[in-house]
Amino acid sequence: MFRIIAKDVLSQGAGTRIIRIRVSAPAVALKAQAGEFVLVMVTGKGERIPLTIADRDVQEGSITLVFQEAGFSTRLLGQLAEGETLYALTGPLGQATHVPANGKIVLVGGGVGIAELYPVARAFREKNNRVMAVLGARTKDLLVLVDDMRRVAHDFHIVTDDGSCGRQGVVTDVLREILLSDPSFPVYTVGPLPMMKAVAQVARQAGAPAVVSLNSLMVDGTGMCGGCRVTVGGQIRFVCVDGPEFDAHQIDWEELAKRNKVYKEKEAHICRLDSL
Ligand code: FES
Repeated sequence: MFRIIAKDVLSQGAGTRIIRIRVSAPAVALKAQAGEFVLVMVTGKGERIPLTIADRDVQEGSITLVFQEAGFSTRLLGQLAEGETLYALTGPLGQATHVPANGKIVLVGGGVGIAELYPVARAFREKNNRVMAVLGARTKDLLVLVDDMRRVAHDFHIVTDDGSCGRQGVVTDVLREILLSDPSFPVYTVGPLPMMKAVAQVARQAGAPAVVSLNSLMVDGTGMCGGCRVTVGGQIRFVCVDGPEFDAHQIDWEELAKRNKVYKEKEAHICRLDSL
């Protein structure tokens, strides 16, 4: 159970790796829907890492997870090889993406968030929606699943900070243009927090509705610990049970940014101990 069936490195550059693993988890594969996630423990004493289910194979009984080696636990996960097993995996968790039929959507993803966008893109396409995708990263090496997204989307844009792939700039440059020609386009975004905040701002200025998929810190994943709380429209909500998707115009972005930095010091301490 929870054996890593396959592993590949999707991108390697700028001092970080984005890794894809296919994990044996038949019960999760059977029920998983777009937008849902799992909690993964690499070791018995490790933290629980929330990872979006990027794909599933019901026949094989597997799910696909994509993660960036950003901290202590994700680096530990990145060290596991094919054939090794995860200590624990729970899911599917969270609310599935609300996907209306016969509409349209602009999907805006950044970095590893593009992998989280992929199942959402497929779900919208399957329900006969017009799908536009705007994918961004600092540099070409940090773009992932580009061909998969290109296959699913009707219109497709790539933006990189350094111009190494697609247009030079940021995703909001393209989004602004799309919404200028049609402000009724609903927006869905996932990626680094500053990017999602900027996307929400552009959508709000254009008068477009926007949904954000949050990657909050989590502990129990059941709505009990409060670790993933976020303020939405002045109300406390829990990303693990009420989310991960929320109305982007209602998020308290400043509070969220502060909460995401809470464990930075402790993690740096663990990393220092690990390197001794
Ligand atoms: S992770 Fe504990 S309330 Fe969400």
